[in-house]
Amino acid sequence: MANEETERGPPDFDAGFAARFRDLVLWRRDVRRFRTDPVAEPVVKRLVELASHAPSVGHCQPWRFVLVGREDRRALVRASFARANVAALDGYQGEEKALYARLKLEGLDRAPVHLAVFADEGTEDGAGLGRQTMPEALKYSVVGAVHTLWLAARAEGLGMGWISILEPDVVTSALDVPSGWGLVAYLCLGYPEEKHLDPELVRHGWQPRLPLDDIFFTR
Ligand SMILES: Cc1cc2nc3c(=O)[nH]c(=O)nc-3n(C[C@H](O)[C@H](O)[C@H](O)COP(=O)(O)O)c2cc1C
Repeated sequence: MANEETERGPPDFDAGFAARFRDLVLWRRDVRRFRTDPVAEPVVKRLVELASHAPSVGHCQPWRFVLVGREDRRALVRASFARANVAALDGYQGEEKALYARLKLEGLDRAPVHLAVFADEGTEDGAGLGRQTMPEALKYSVVGAVHTLWLAARAEGLGMGWISILEPDVVTSALDVPSGWGLVAYLCLGYPEEKHLDPELVRHGWQPRLPLDDIFFTR
């Protein structure tokens, strides 16, 4: 953490900030349509640095971010999406299948930045604290960092899309990463072509937002 931030002391997160934070959360979107304007590597690194302040089990910081610049590697990822998407389409029937076919589920062609995020499952950092009974906490930690990155990107006017319709083994080998790194997320980043308050899957009638009563329980 920069000294300047330590010296400033805890900020006053006032009601105005809370309202702006709510805006940020509500206007974050999974973006699949990007402008092709480049995003410089230092910008990506700045976002990744912020994301690396996310919480992690035992403070093991298991996230590994891989900027995918090489066109041959990107082509392998696009081909993997194409296969996985056809397989997914085949799993639906009737109207649902027709609707699935119309959904745009990636921005791999136009996004200026491709970023793969892995969990280093062999890390000894954190000395295993918090992972004895729930080893999956390692991957949960990486997901938290991805969400921080998503918000950080949106705060800078960038959009991000998460693509899971991929063959993880194919993507992992295409990126030639150390063994023991498990793929958590493949992300597209760039300036969005459109900005919406409602998710695309809501807008296209695939899945509405659930009411709070369906997701909040007391015991
Ligand atoms: C783990 C994860 C995987 C996802 N994979 C895909 C994907 O493969 N393709 C896609 O278009 N969106 C994907 N999304 C985005 C979701 O569809 C999106 O978050 C959801 O529809 C809600 O929209 P919103 O993010 O704009 O609020 C993924 C999101 C998450 C969290």
